[in-house]
Amino acid sequence: MDQRLSAVPLTARRSGPLRGRVRVPGDKSISHRALIFGALAVGETRVSGLLEGEDVIRTAAAMRALGAGVERLGAGEWRVQGVGVGGFAEPAGPLDFGNAGTGVRLTMGAVAGCPIRAVFDGDASLRKRPMGRILDPLSRMGARAVAVGEGGRLPLTLEGARDPIPIVYRTPVPSAQIKSAVLLAGLAAPGETTVIEAEASRDHTERLLRHFGAEVETVPEGAHGRRVTLKGQPELVPAPIVVPADPSSAAFPLTAALVTPGSDVVLEGVMMNPLRIGLIATLREMGAQIEALEERNEGGESVADLRARFSELRGVDVPPERAPSMIDEYPVLAVAAAFAQGETRMRGLTELRVKESDRLAAMEAGLRANGIDCAIAGDDLIVRGRGRPPGGGVVATHMDHRIAMAFLVMGLASERPVTIDDATFIATSFPGFVELMRGLGGDLS
Ligand code: S3P
Repeated sequence: MDQRLSAVPLTARRSGPLRGRVRVPGDKSISHRALIFGALAVGETRVSGLLEGEDVIRTAAAMRALGAGVERLGAGEWRVQGVGVGGFAEPAGPLDFGNAGTGVRLTMGAVAGCPIRAVFDGDASLRKRPMGRILDPLSRMGARAVAVGEGGRLPLTLEGARDPIPIVYRTPVPSAQIKSAVLLAGLAAPGETTVIEAEASRDHTERLLRHFGAEVETVPEGAHGRRVTLKGQPELVPAPIVVPADPSSAAFPLTAALVTPGSDVVLEGVMMNPLRIGLIATLREMGAQIEALEERNEGGESVADLRARFSELRGVDVPPERAPSMIDEYPVLAVAAAFAQGETRMRGLTELRVKESDRLAAMEAGLRANGIDCAIAGDDLIVRGRGRPPGGGVVATHMDHRIAMAFLVMGLASERPVTIDDATFIATSFPGFVELMRGLGGDLS
């Protein structure tokens, strides 16, 4: 997609109290995995609550191109007919993942364990993101990158291993995508594949593998890390997957309620996986009134209805070891920090440089454009809030859905409106975002 030809600017204006009960779409991480693991299982997997965002639809198309049957039965209801571990067929054309880092990196792992060749590609944002971090371990496992874009980037051609080799791999950065790619390739290898991470990243791959009958052992490693070991060549047995509401999407209406005076919002069925809720801990430290109601278990994950009310926030210091549990939430946390009194320092954010955009730079520019005092110091972002921010800026979103949604949240409660240059990428993870926010009382047009 040519961003300049199809960009749709959008403005958020100061709104009355936000009120209501809503459910945000299904979790993006689990949705990608549901389709990929379903494609690797033998037989039929039923998925309900699948996120029907553009990123996940790309993964569905890729699984079809690799030989799996993927069919939409109704809203969020999908059926996947799997081909078994190592059973992918060579795709007829390039696999285009659009904006989706998770889709492309996990699929590379799955393809690495099959004796086929596939071309991986994506949009201008995805073509800028590093793929060497995935190719390195996969080549140790016997896969071969036969053509790679400059600097280890897309488009690239991967040739899977005929006889994949199990490895012990220590991830260079905490990343669930690297861990998952190695484990997916390890499915086709004999013996044990181990991934060691210094800081625990989201564990949906491990949980889904166990759900499908694979043997996966997780033990602590150091102060914050984990060692994950998979027994190779399992037969993955399909089991129904229920996708809970995405905490990374819930973060936007939740923060909007905290910063918009008089608001009282309930977000239904939000996944409360401990490796995903660093934002809630941080916001509570800032003084946010967030209650987790009706905590329960749904589809193997704990979920709760989150009630968020307008709160006077104060600045806090966010430790670097919390980053993996809220890695996608820094844009909206920076917005919350702009409404707080005092300084918020978010530490250890190097990984934000390689997300859908260079989020550190995009956040700093967006905050400045709206009159907020902020700075980048090394890997840290510092935001000095003074209550309601001035607003009035136009924010460059750089094809990044989370930058877009974060700054729209700001505009709902800043003095003057906030405009984003392009709202189209919101559909990658949160279709219906604008309508949902309007339904709560947000002024977006
Ligand atoms: C994801 C892992 C994270 C996150 C991304 C989803 C996943 O990326 O930012 O949105 O589903 O595994 P990294 O593994 O690169 O940190």
